[in-house]
Amino acid sequence: MSRSLTPSSVTPADEQPNPADPEDVAAMTADEAARTHARLGEEIAGHDRRYYQDDAPTVSDADYDALRRRYEAIEAQFPELRGMDSLSEKVGAAPAPKFAKVRHAVPMLSLGNAFSDEEVEEFVARVRRFLGLATEADVSLTAEPKIDGLSCSLRYVNGVFVQAATRGDGFEGEDVTANVRTIGEIPQRLKGDDVPAVFEVRGEVYMSHNAFAALNERQQEVGKPLFANPRNAAAGSLRQLDPKITASRPLRFFAYAWGEVSEGGLPADTQFGVIEAFARWGLPTNPLTVRCHSAAELLAHYRMIGEQRAALGYDIDGVVYKVDSLALQGRLGFVSRSPRWALAHKFPAQRAITRLERIEIQVGRTGALTPVAKLTPVTVGGVVVSNASLHNEDYIRGIGGNGEPIRGGVDIREGDWVTIQRAGDVIPQVVDVELERRPADARRYDFPTLCPACGSHAVREEGEAVRRCTGGLVCPAQAVERIRHFVSRDAFDIEGLGEKQVQAFFEAGLVKQPADIFTLEARDSAPGALTRLKNREGWGETSARNLFAAIAARRQVPVNRFLYALGIRHVGETNAKRLLRHFPTIEALRETALAAVPPGEAHPKGNEAWAELVGIEGIGAVVAEAVVDFFGEPNNQAAVDALLREVTPAPMEAIATAGAVSGKTVVFTGALEKMTRDEAKAMAERLGAKVAGSVSKKTDYVVAGADAGSKLAKARDLGVAVLTEDEWLALVAG
Ligand code: IVH
Repeated sequence: MSRSLTPSSVTPADEQPNPADPEDVAAMTADEAARTHARLGEEIAGHDRRYYQDDAPTVSDADYDALRRRYEAIEAQFPELRGMDSLSEKVGAAPAPKFAKVRHAVPMLSLGNAFSDEEVEEFVARVRRFLGLATEADVSLTAEPKIDGLSCSLRYVNGVFVQAATRGDGFEGEDVTANVRTIGEIPQRLKGDDVPAVFEVRGEVYMSHNAFAALNERQQEVGKPLFANPRNAAAGSLRQLDPKITASRPLRFFAYAWGEVSEGGLPADTQFGVIEAFARWGLPTNPLTVRCHSAAELLAHYRMIGEQRAALGYDIDGVVYKVDSLALQGRLGFVSRSPRWALAHKFPAQRAITRLERIEIQVGRTGALTPVAKLTPVTVGGVVVSNASLHNEDYIRGIGGNGEPIRGGVDIREGDWVTIQRAGDVIPQVVDVELERRPADARRYDFPTLCPACGSHAVREEGEAVRRCTGGLVCPAQAVERIRHFVSRDAFDIEGLGEKQVQAFFEAGLVKQPADIFTLEARDSAPGALTRLKNREGWGETSARNLFAAIAARRQVPVNRFLYALGIRHVGETNAKRLLRHFPTIEALRETALAAVPPGEAHPKGNEAWAELVGIEGIGAVVAEAVVDFFGEPNNQAAVDALLREVTPAPMEAIATAGAVSGKTVVFTGALEKMTRDEAKAMAERLGAKVAGSVSKKTDYVVAGADAGSKLAKARDLGVAVLTEDEWLALVAG
């Protein structure tokens, strides 16, 4: 598995205590151990969530493994900490809520890790000991690459593919059947006459390097965020609500294990034999799978695979060893979350030293300023690297996430020699600086306090490592994202102005900030306008007219939507309403925000206006500070003024009650586009609605997709509310 880097939020490896050093744990008091255990537990759970549910990990594999090992070392020393909540009992993270759930008949577990030859030798010795085998007795094991993708369970009934599920938390995964059907390499029907009545094939869904590069190129072209690495791209592609998107992304699969199998149905009595059967049945299996007879042979194969790694064309992050005999596997069994009969031998992170030529700041779509090291190109593990993450401002200064010095407090300067690490991740990181090689002309780096993209102030929130541009409404790096948010369903909700149109308008220079949306029609119809909207690609007379009408309809919006639409950090729908319950107008809020002085030298507790802000129920210092920062930026004030000239805020909307569809009866009909019928049904049921197959007087809503026929007609006859798919989604979103 691969936890790649979101450069801004990475925990530097140097901060982690050396997990191989048991001294540190051995010296802990029970109290310290309990505290550290709880803290690590939370940290690991957060990483698991970002990795499994959000497909957006923020630490490298190596760092994650270090955390996990330390956690386990503490539990080994203090077994009383191994309670119900212990992460050692859990695998992965609970399934994300958007997919139907699938309970695994046989849990999908994880693997124990090893990093050194000695640990592998110890594993083989442990297996022998456990089985009571003499040293000279043969124990065969298989060795195969550990694919860096996401595991998936494929259910075949009578040889026909019927269901696919992700691992989820190991016990319950997500139903990704429709998406897996689009993976060409996965057979819809297994070949051969020895396929059992029920067979769950397990393996890894992954994306090749070539497909990953092509996908990111397309993402870039359409202004969508890039995937950090092939694993995230594979996960993001598989966990799509729309299988058409999955189909457009070439995913691949290797089968290496199994789950439920009907009685007596295994095609062989060895691991290797089952994999051979997989190949016969038409499933893709990894050609680098071999059978070995000693730790030495396993290690030789590990090295051979390591040498081929860069040329494989897909990411692997180690080699997996499995006891070959299934009878012995059965005897060995499991220990907490992993089998005693298998081991993942991970590859070490790959490193190289090169020159840091300069530091560049990238401004992300959310305004985060991220330092990127521009390097003299160097080969790290077969890949030429010329950019690497420097994480954040403190990291450059030699300060770790907890405020403690890292690298002995040594800062990183332009011109320095630095160590680069690639740990299966696509974004390499700068992990160290060679102080003794520091050139006399190396330049100390001052992190900018103005956004390099728009010149607005860039601020750091208390306790945050990331510095962010406050000029969201005008910053070109954030513009598309901000405008997209501005027009989104819960904000201005302008129909016909989706992500694609926002991007195109921005590129054509037509809409650079929200207020421009409302002057679009006037500019379009002005004499001498260059290309009229109706003549632009993808537009026509009707769609242009509809768009202008949709925009005009929003010249009055509830003030809470107005505030939310501004995209002020931490001001979501709820906080917007909280603020506006106190300040009835944007003007009143702005006035107080401009007058507010947060706690500092002049006012140790902040001034009166500040006290007013943080005195609002539910509004704390973090939100207040974000509001103060936002209005304190002249660029934003100008953008809000421009907007207020076009739009009149109306009274605040009533607070939505939870569960708008709870207890209602819904009928879905016609072709839905955003979800499959099954997904729609599962979603409705999850929200407490009853899904019916036919329309009657008791039906509350009919959700009609394209080409809806008799049910739609009947709903109209009976006067039942008919919703489009989007209206339905808006309704359930509350
Ligand atoms: S065997 C009961 N074999 O690694 C163990 N896993 O860290 C079943 N993985 O969840 C897993 N390549 O996602 C196995 N050749 C391989 C693998 C492999 C990648 C993944 C898999 C698993 C994780 C465990």
